[in-house]
Amino acid sequence: MPAAPGSRSPPRRIPCRMKEIGLAAIPPPRARKIRMEKPAPVDAPILDHLRNRWSPRAFDPAPIPRETLRSLFEAARWAPSSNNAQPWRYILSETEDARARASTVLTGRNTLWAPKAPVLVCVAAHTLFEDGKPNRHAWYDTGQATSLLIVQATSMGLFVHQMAGFDAVKARAVFALPENVEPIAMMALGRPGDAGSLPDPLRERESAPRSRRAQDQFVFSGAWGAPW
Ligand SMILES: Cc1cc2nc3c(=O)[nH]c(=O)nc-3n(C[C@H](O)[C@H](O)[C@H](O)COP(=O)(O)O)c2cc1C
Repeated sequence: MPAAPGSRSPPRRIPCRMKEIGLAAIPPPRARKIRMEKPAPVDAPILDHLRNRWSPRAFDPAPIPRETLRSLFEAARWAPSSNNAQPWRYILSETEDARARASTVLTGRNTLWAPKAPVLVCVAAHTLFEDGKPNRHAWYDTGQATSLLIVQATSMGLFVHQMAGFDAVKARAVFALPENVEPIAMMALGRPGDAGSLPDPLRERESAPRSRRAQDQFVFSGAWGAPW
């Protein structure tokens, strides 16, 4: 996201690193695989796994072992939540058939790259507490659990790309979601793949620099807008 006007410190842009992998000696250009690394150009030190996380579109199609996936969902499992309601729900699609079916809910450019990821996930939230009252924080808690899942994934060499670009009505039918369970996002998950294999417009985006608003635009002291 470009920095909003008025930012005190415009986002620093650092070049992304392209890593050539799987090479023996110097192969012809077409045999080269391009794996992007895009560490965040941070303004203060943060954990490496947070800095190195990003949302790629090129995934290695190799399947992800069940025990690896279990660690990701275990990370989500131990997220805090309002009243410990644990509203997050994840519906996985791993086989070719399941991924093809899950891909039918994707929209726009997501249809160009996401179906190739080895795991597609529908992220949903149960919107009621056990007593039937609405859980106003279901979305917050589900995002929070998913963030922990993503940090765990990064620590294991996996990447996750979340998507709002999907048809929620279709998702409700395809994933047989019950009443009061809302589909929130789709996610593609896997090991990084060959960025050179992406179609043109996406290949360019894959290597685009990362940017963020400066802290003074979202951290305030005491009251809205007061500089911290
Ligand atoms: C809720 C959510 C929805 C998103 N939807 C899409 C999407 O439909 N398609 C897409 O290519 N990226 C999508 N993204 C990825 C964002 O564009 C990406 O996280 C953002 O540009 C920052 O880049 P980074 O994750 O590499 O730091 C989504 C991210 C989130 C958290």
